[in-house]
Amino acid sequence: MSAPQNAADPAGHPTGRPGVHFDGRSAARPESHPEGRSGGGAVLPEQQRQVEDELIDTVLASFEDTPDPRLKELMQSLVRHLHGFIRDVRLTEEEWQQAVEFLTAAGHITTDRRQEFVLLSDVLGASMQTINVNHEAAGGATEATVVGPFFVDGAPEIPIGGDLARGAPGEPCWVEGTVTDTDGKPVARARLDIWEADEGGLYDVQYGPDRTAGRGHLFTDDRGRYAFWGLTPTPYPIPHDGPVGQLLDKTGRSPLRASHLHFRATAPGHRAVTTHIFVQGDRLLTQDAVFGVKDSLVKRFERQAPGTPAPDGRTLTDLSWTRVRFDIVLRRA
Ligand code: BEZ
Ligand code: FE
Repeated sequence: MSAPQNAADPAGHPTGRPGVHFDGRSAARPESHPEGRSGGGAVLPEQQRQVEDELIDTVLASFEDTPDPRLKELMQSLVRHLHGFIRDVRLTEEEWQQAVEFLTAAGHITTDRRQEFVLLSDVLGASMQTINVNHEAAGGATEATVVGPFFVDGAPEIPIGGDLARGAPGEPCWVEGTVTDTDGKPVARARLDIWEADEGGLYDVQYGPDRTAGRGHLFTDDRGRYAFWGLTPTPYPIPHDGPVGQLLDKTGRSPLRASHLHFRATAPGHRAVTTHIFVQGDRLLTQDAVFGVKDSLVKRFERQAPGTPAPDGRTLTDLSWTRVRFDIVLRRA
């Protein structure tokens, strides 16, 4: 396998994206390995190498007349990388069969309410990398992270200072902040959708279709300010009772996500952002199952003793509670 740094691959195929070039070919290294393998990629007899290279060229050529140039680029790059992977690991037929069975099982468990392929993309870091590629970190704008499967359209509106938990069990958390643009100008009437799991690690929809708790939306005031009562986030596992869970298990990985609270901020004339805030000090920050943590999104949740007056004048006599500030910065569209 080779990864040349030039703008076109050796066969002259366009390589598309700047700085990312790959032709799927194996290296014809002079120190040929007796079994035709090496740890970092195959070292093959010349005839075998030619057979494999020729197949790549034939498959690439089959997409040559694709009318949509972007589709052509996607398919040809996919073929290069896929063949490169097969050759790199010298994929066995049994392994290929297992991969097919894995994908078939992912298809079988997928329904309108359960998307195993997105989960697979999440645990491979592909969802997060797609977000990185499409949301440049720029101008201090709030960084994006994964959406996850638990966003629901049409969650109820709450007033500023209202209760988003709606009876979901957990430690109360006062969340406050502002929405501004990258010049620091307040964004009035920005819409914030928020959703979170309860202290048992479950979202309302995981109890059944009729429950609405731990989710809602509100609008910033004319100075771009917002506040609400939610729950202090706790860690919880991604759905792991299917093939993706088995994959995590076999590879010694945990299904747990770092504690977080989901936000989606939208405002006319601004780029929407879907993000989370994470809890400073959470031991899972470096082991999030879906690689969603970004340093800028880690916030201090300050624990308050029972009886400490809350910012809205309430006193929670029997309960500790936390408070956190999250100032959201939107880029103009
Ligand atoms: C979540 O945070 O809700 C989530 C994200 C990715 C996969 C599963 C769950
Ligand atoms: Fe979540």
